[in-house]
Amino acid sequence: MSQNVYQTLEEVKLLPLYTATDLSYLPKVEEILVENHVPLIEVTFRSKLAGEAIKQLSASGKLLVGAGTVRTLEEVKIAIENGATFIVSPAVVPEVIEYCLEQEIPIFPGTATPTDIQQAASYGIKTVKFFPADIYGGLKAINALSGPFYDIKFLPTGGINEENFLEYIENPNVVGIGGSFILSEKVIMEDNGVKMNQILQSLVEKINK
Ligand code: 3PG
Repeated sequence: MSQNVYQTLEEVKLLPLYTATDLSYLPKVEEILVENHVPLIEVTFRSKLAGEAIKQLSASGKLLVGAGTVRTLEEVKIAIENGATFIVSPAVVPEVIEYCLEQEIPIFPGTATPTDIQQAASYGIKTVKFFPADIYGGLKAINALSGPFYDIKFLPTGGINEENFLEYIENPNVVGIGGSFILSEKVIMEDNGVKMNQILQSLVEKINK
């Protein structure tokens, strides 16, 4: 997948956050995302299977596969070795950012305050994760932060759901939204992806209306 993650996010608006606990669901995960024209995924380092899941999902080249919840240098190395083409962190982690810049891999550091955003911006980063968006003031905060940080785009995550995601997406300072509500292994397990497919289809339809 050679397409740039910033461009894809700008077009698709959704970044599904996925935590793998059973690798047998990965083909279904890929199928659901491809079918709904959401060709990207953030696989979180919240399970031991993250590296292997990134590797397997990257194999077909149908998805842009990134790693999330990357908090250490060790994790960022495992992620990139296994084929991750972008990295998402819950915080500004200098060693993770520096390694990504060295490897020329897009990095979305997690920020919540002006100090965090300025720290990320000092590395030349133009798009930051805003996390946890709901707790740190949601769209009101994004609008306020966009005053001084007029050259920064936001990827809000945390507390975003079917009810509020459109409001976020419609904001010009928001490049796209991330969340675990977009794609869940637990929901896929219930009926081998039927319900999950319907949920994603309905999210995409709402965006394209
Ligand atoms: C993240 O790491 O981006 C968040 O934990 C996602 O939050 P959510 O589960 O509320 O979508």
